[in-house]
Amino acid sequence: MLDVKKIKEDFLIFQRKIKGNNLIYLDSAATTQKPIQVIEAISNYYRNNNANVHRGAYTLSEESTMMYENARQSAAKFINAKSSESIVFTRNATEGINLVANAWGLEYFKADDEILLTQMEHHSNLIPWQLVAKKTGAKLKFIYLDRNGELDLSNLENLINEKTKFVSLVHISNSLGTINPVRDIIKHAHNYNIPVMIDATQSVPHTFVDVQELDCDFLVFSGHKMLGPTGIGVLYGKEELLDKMPPFMGGGEMINEVHLDWADYRSIPWKFEAGTPNIAGAIGLSAAIEYINSIGKENIEQHGKRLTQFAIEELEKIDGIEIYGPKFNRGPLVAFNIKNIHPHDVSTILDEYGVAVRAGHHCTQPVMQWLNVPATVRASFYVYNSFEDVEVLIKGLKKTKEVFAGVY
Ligand SMILES: Cc1ncc(COP(=O)(O)O)c(C=O)c1O
Repeated sequence: MLDVKKIKEDFLIFQRKIKGNNLIYLDSAATTQKPIQVIEAISNYYRNNNANVHRGAYTLSEESTMMYENARQSAAKFINAKSSESIVFTRNATEGINLVANAWGLEYFKADDEILLTQMEHHSNLIPWQLVAKKTGAKLKFIYLDRNGELDLSNLENLINEKTKFVSLVHISNSLGTINPVRDIIKHAHNYNIPVMIDATQSVPHTFVDVQELDCDFLVFSGHKMLGPTGIGVLYGKEELLDKMPPFMGGGEMINEVHLDWADYRSIPWKFEAGTPNIAGAIGLSAAIEYINSIGKENIEQHGKRLTQFAIEELEKIDGIEIYGPKFNRGPLVAFNIKNIHPHDVSTILDEYGVAVRAGHHCTQPVMQWLNVPATVRASFYVYNSFEDVEVLIKGLKKTKEVFAGVY
């Protein structure tokens, strides 16, 4: 059991009142709140160590470089990567996916090659592939959803074939909560020597992700969804694959030698980090990793499961609620709708009680099309959420129904 009361004290934002109420933050799948340890790590860096990295032979620059590169090592350790050279710092998961889609896809895809995705991808793991497919003539193929909101793998034998050149899929769906059997899919794709990228944006913050055990070729996640700051993300890639990719962006920091008509690039990971990186962001991410490790991934995962199960049980007691996604074995979020009430109205009324939930398509419009709804309400949980938070949500939803009782 997590000591949520104690954890909450580390998050100063919970001292705020929202419309006179305690803040009940249930939107961690969009972005998490930040503990004081992360805020202080960033602030200390700017107060004491700030200088550009990799460029100076003076104390501050050496310190800054060391802190930045230490952050890379802690990110590598966090996902059990073999080496820190396989960790590229990006702005976010989206940038990591775009980097691979462009650097790998434009180099290796040709007309009629197939890229395999799923129907439940976040737009950030769909649009980059649409763009690359348009440029190369490659075709997008999809693993579709079954009735429960899980991947229908019955046709996988046909979907992965000699035309398939890349597979990219989400580990935990941000709109359904589905946990995908990524290990099996990776294994299957590897039988055909097809590289696989995992969008681990919703899994790395909540569960132990081991890239060596998964044997994925690429994996991405965002710092801001795991207590870190915005503007920093991680792309993991197997060294031999990163080595085979040309740079995605050009500029300072990523070169060894430059002439007017040619340049020689640095080795990985730096050849993918053009320009001054988000140094403070990486240091903040490292502090977030330390914080998560101090709580323990196993504890975080169990806590998320318990809260989600409790939320589902309580939601099911409310008349007219439809819950989406698999009933069991799901990530720490629950999406739903109340009959005849628009999700935006639900969210607006919940805000009156200090409850922050997301309403919308969650950047997964194809999932909304599959559900045949314009949008859903989504409550998502993290280490600072308690069972009482879920109770306040349920109370707020009952009030919402009362408000609309006279309307319909
Ligand atoms: C599953 C998934 N993938 C990718 C992203 C994109 O993350 P970011 O906006 O930090 O790049 C998100 C964000 O919600 C997500 O939930």
